Amino acid sequence: MSKIGTLSSRTLSMTGLRALGREQACSRPASDASIRVSELLSSLSYALDLTEGREMGHSVRSCILGMRIAQEIGLPEADQADLYYTLLLKDAGCSSNSSRLHHILNADDLRAKGDLKTVDWTRVGWESLHYAVTHVATSTPYPQRIWKMIQVAATQQRDSCELVKIRCERGSQIARKLGFSESVAMGIHSLDEHWNGGGYPNGLRHGEIPIFSNIANLAQTLEVFLRARGKRDAIDAARRRSGRWFSPSLVKSAISLSKGGRLWEDLEKDDLHSEVLAMEPTDRRLTADDETLDRICVAFAEIIDAKTPFTYQHSTGVADAAVDIGGFFGFGEQDLKRLRRAGLLHDIGKLGVSNSILEKPGKLTAEEFDAVRRHPYFSYEILRRVPAFADFSYDAAAHHERLDGKGYWRGLNAEELSLHARILAVADVFDALRAKRPYRDALPLEKVFSIMVEDTPHALDSACLEALMESKSDTHTLPQFPPISVALY
Ligand SMILES: [Fe+2]
Ligand SMILES: [Fe+2]
Repeated sequence: MSKIGTLSSRTLSMTGLRALGREQACSRPASDASIRVSELLSSLSYALDLTEGREMGHSVRSCILGMRIAQEIGLPEADQADLYYTLLLKDAGCSSNSSRLHHILNADDLRAKGDLKTVDWTRVGWESLHYAVTHVATSTPYPQRIWKMIQVAATQQRDSCELVKIRCERGSQIARKLGFSESVAMGIHSLDEHWNGGGYPNGLRHGEIPIFSNIANLAQTLEVFLRARGKRDAIDAARRRSGRWFSPSLVKSAISLSKGGRLWEDLEKDDLHSEVLAMEPTDRRLTADDETLDRICVAFAEIIDAKTPFTYQHSTGVADAAVDIGGFFGFGEQDLKRLRRAGLLHDIGKLGVSNSILEKPGKLTAEEFDAVRRHPYFSYEILRRVPAFADFSYDAAAHHERLDGKGYWRGLNAEELSLHARILAVADVFDALRAKRPYRDALPLEKVFSIMVEDTPHALDSACLEALMESKSDTHTLPQFPPISVALY
């Protein structure tokens, strides 16, 4: 009897599966209407920090700094609300240029991005040279490395413009999709414009640059220098770039706030959650209903999937497959919603993995594989901080666990894996096998199921796989293929 036949014969009846679904389904609140959008976005901004190669909390601290400067210059309250969301979402487009940056520099994009903000790349000098030497093609032999550095220098202006353009267009699109105003979208779009016209993508200058963008650019620079080198260096960097990168009057306000110490108050605290929530203008606070929560999940799924060309629509694919399985089990509306959101966000921790690893065509080293194995841990750490998503953070972060305890990152065993976690694990493997990867082409449905059946019942849950196969039964026939070994991440 074929493995598929064996699986079918051991499968629970439809009634049994549905009962299992009801039994293991969790009860959830019917409405999420009291959740603040600022709570969601400030927590999710930690994922954007990872993608930028920054410490978690960078966006939140930048938001606090930017709002303090806005209050100092007397920005009207209505504008402060838009600025607040511009600051929290300033890096929404950051994952979209990671792959391109990795290919341009032939290097670790996270390190390259993380270190770039302390470099004045608009001036040719020791700083930019040192950056090139320490970040371009660092793992290749010297002759190739030097050649690559010459190539990077020759196309630096064109490439920088392209990278910023990709990022700012994507970031502004995400803000629009989330329903924010055009001011927020354009604030994000013009983040990298410089006061003297030397920025990207449009070379805007002075009053042509939206004030939100210039405040956000100044705030993020202050934050990066503060964390890397301290308050004095942060103010020095702002002063040196005054009139070139930043509006002189904004820098003056920052200096004045810094002298009284108010600019830096409480920024060293580990938990800045209540601080950043308190900065949102009181009478303009946004709350998230179910529809908003779904929109935020879809937007972040797009951010996650934009990280590499190989994960295009992966999060949506996992969410769809998980919902198909849950639907087959007879899950109710709340549980299907929960599964969908968990599927959309399960790989959010992958934003913290370098593209030099995610897109490596060859075999990963032990160290690189460790970095891959950490991504569900980051997913857990990010999602558990989001009040509306904390209840599925454990299950979402268990998508690489196996029933025999040989999965990662925790090595959980069958008893420790809920039905939702098992569904997500099956959905994840299914979508990963269906997609094109650096080391192989996309696989046809029949072959995908043949491979997955070989992974039951020791790794994947048989009932969940059976449910998925049944849900796709109109669209495929099951052939007999020998198992092949695949790496999934
Ligand atoms: Fe994953
Ligand atoms: Fe995944």
